[in-house]
Amino acid sequence: MLMTFDAVLSADELQRCQILLGGAAWSGGHITAGKQSALAKNNQQLDEQSAALPELRRIVMTALSRHALFFSAALPKQVFPPLFNRYSGTTNSFGAHVDGAMRPLPDGRGYLRTDLSATLFLSDPERYDGGELIINDPMGERSIKLPAGSMVLYSASTVHRVAAVTRGERLACFTWLQSMVRDDGERRLLFDMDMALLALREQLGDEHDAVVALTGTYHNLLRRWGEV
Ligand code: NI
Repeated sequence: MLMTFDAVLSADELQRCQILLGGAAWSGGHITAGKQSALAKNNQQLDEQSAALPELRRIVMTALSRHALFFSAALPKQVFPPLFNRYSGTTNSFGAHVDGAMRPLPDGRGYLRTDLSATLFLSDPERYDGGELIINDPMGERSIKLPAGSMVLYSASTVHRVAAVTRGERLACFTWLQSMVRDDGERRLLFDMDMALLALREQLGDEHDAVVALTGTYHNLLRRWGEV
């Protein structure tokens, strides 16, 4: 799966994030990396102790929780507390890696299985060169560089990297999700069905027998494939 979502953050939310990150303290990005990815990782990450982090996380989680299309695509069971990174100067890239499958949650609350990865772009793409998120897809490489406030959601099992930023600064938020539906293919079928149902509801109305029956089938498939 690879999907992009435009304007996940409102203009006000984006501006607030940029202000908060502008005054924040950054550390080497190896904090959340595993052994292989630590070698590839050459960026900076917002300190876990940063005073700005709770508000930044709240803004992003609020934006995600109101986004119906994101919910339908991801069927999130749990979202890892969002993290923030910066690519600029000599700490400007992240080589090819796969995200670790099981990520310990803060405060010893067990583990999150990383079914999906998300990157929310926070810098205006006109203001930096490079910094594309490059995802190895079965069809080839996909290069993603989105407007500030937009987000890409992709399968965490893919090999991916971030190209070197050669001018300016690339700020982003990133996180992982455990989905209620573990299998990419099953999740995709549910998403396609949900989108088709939306269109059918528009044409036929909510109470049409076929709409009611297919909505039931959607939920019965979710019941069969989902875990909570
Ligand atoms: Ni990664």
